[in-house]
Amino acid sequence: MANSHRDKIAVVTGAASGIGQAFARRLAEDGCHVVIADVQAADDTLKAIERAGRRSLFVQCDVSSPDDVAALAAEVERAFGQCDILVNNAGIFQMQPFDQVKFTDWRRVLSINLDSAFLTCQAFVPGMKRRGWGRIVNMASSTFGTVTLGYVHYIASKGGMIGLTRALASELGPHGITVNAIAPTLTRTPGAMKRGPRPGDADMEQAFVNNARRQAIPRGMTPDDLTGTLSYLTGDDAAFVTGQTFYVNGGLVRA
Ligand SMILES: NC(=O)c1ccc[n+]([C@@H]2O[C@H](COP(=O)([O-])OP(=O)(O)OC[C@H]3O[C@@H](n4cnc5c(N)ncnc54)[C@H](O)[C@@H]3O)[C@@H](O)[C@H]2O)c1
Repeated sequence: MANSHRDKIAVVTGAASGIGQAFARRLAEDGCHVVIADVQAADDTLKAIERAGRRSLFVQCDVSSPDDVAALAAEVERAFGQCDILVNNAGIFQMQPFDQVKFTDWRRVLSINLDSAFLTCQAFVPGMKRRGWGRIVNMASSTFGTVTLGYVHYIASKGGMIGLTRALASELGPHGITVNAIAPTLTRTPGAMKRGPRPGDADMEQAFVNNARRQAIPRGMTPDDLTGTLSYLTGDDAAFVTGQTFYVNGGLVRA
């Protein structure tokens, strides 16, 4: 089969760091040109895309801002003419017991983790529809299923991503566009390491050890454990797969 990623244009949000960086690198290695949308500089990711011999573009963008996402869409249109693959990866972690969550905290988590995907989908879906092909991958989290304490707004935002994925998949299926979600467990990234330990974990290193004990595959997870699933979901082999959430978590099956 021909390489279905070759010369596709991918937009990856939050690709300056962690999982998004690994996603951008993998899509470039698969043959895509890659646009990075992030609030922070993404020099290492840009270098990785260059090393793969693909074109890249960095757009400074707060994905929770309608104006920034409109500017992102305009930049992508100017530089590449289209977006074929959209990866809604940008997200923030904020661990707080429910009684300490202020409405501003709630809104911030919901707007960066969920409103962002609404905005980017609104911006890029019309072009995908015109071309009759598109791939959207949304970042959810295994904690939607297992429930980490002190994570009410985060888990609500990830549940929203799963709902958005299912609902949009139904609307966009007839247009050749698939929409799926990936739900990792605790993954070694700069964001996760800064987030701080969960109740019951002394520090983040212990958090990884304790999490691994609950996984069928008992080791800590890294961003590279997720890239194969992204590659599959964004290629032609997954043309009949939509509306699904893929729990990539080493088999987080034990209580
Ligand atoms: N690391 C984990 O344990 C884990 C587990 C489950 C799900 N996830 C999800 O994976 C995704 C990536 O997480 P990560 O661990 O790589 O985090 P990370 O903090 O290492 O990277 C997140 C990136 O998003 C960017 N970002 C944050 N706010 C933004 C905004 N408003 N606009 C644009 N960019 C913004 C950051 O600058 C950063 O580059 C998130 O959606 C997260 O919820 C992570």
